[in-house]
Amino acid sequence: MRVKIAPSILSADFTQLGQQVQIVEAAGVDRVQLDVMDGRYVPNITFGPIAFRSLRPLTKLTLEAHLMVTPPEDFIEAIAAAGADTIIVHQESTPHLHRAIQQIHSLGKKAGVALNPSTPASTLSEVLGLLQIVLVMTVNPGFGGQKFIRETLPKIRQVRSALTERGLDCEVEVDGGINEETIGWVAEAGADVMVAGSSVYDAPDGVGPAIARLVQCATGRGLKSSVLSHQ
Ligand code: DX5
Repeated sequence: MRVKIAPSILSADFTQLGQQVQIVEAAGVDRVQLDVMDGRYVPNITFGPIAFRSLRPLTKLTLEAHLMVTPPEDFIEAIAAAGADTIIVHQESTPHLHRAIQQIHSLGKKAGVALNPSTPASTLSEVLGLLQIVLVMTVNPGFGGQKFIRETLPKIRQVRSALTERGLDCEVEVDGGINEETIGWVAEAGADVMVAGSSVYDAPDGVGPAIARLVQCATGRGLKSSVLSHQ
């Protein structure tokens, strides 16, 4: 069982964002997720390309852009140019999802699609074969620190079985309310990448032990999981 933790900087200390990324890098993760919010697609505003431009030279981590913006096509190019390696758009945020995925790939980036809790996995049937990541939202997008929505568990299973059935090499990533209790549920359902914001950055004993505990809870075993494999 491969398990990867993707810290979300949404819960990081923004007065020292570079250091906050470097400490999760030191903890052995392979990526960090940056939540881009426009105040229109979601009722919150965060940051745009400047966050990627600032962090890019400070880390070797994969910078994963989670675009909670509409239409994403207006932002993909600037986010890619600023240093994102992976760009995830929301299925609900554009009528031209296929074109948005083509645009991400034309820029040499990995493409992912996120599904809100009310959006069926079947909406991806026509593009699933193009994707490197399916992101199943386990909260409604817009804020960190929210409660995990258990009704999303069957969808994780559906996505995993669709990928297996079609022999597709695509990560199943989950995002929202992932902590030491819920991570076992999503791992069992077939997720292999877990976005975690508050359970990592709000941990009283620091991001390293928090990440290690999450991995342990996901795999039910020691720290020999792949998330620490390239330390
Ligand atoms: C919601 C955000 C959050 C964040 C993770 O739009 O995408 O899900 O990344 O937040 P936590 O881990 O604190 O729920």
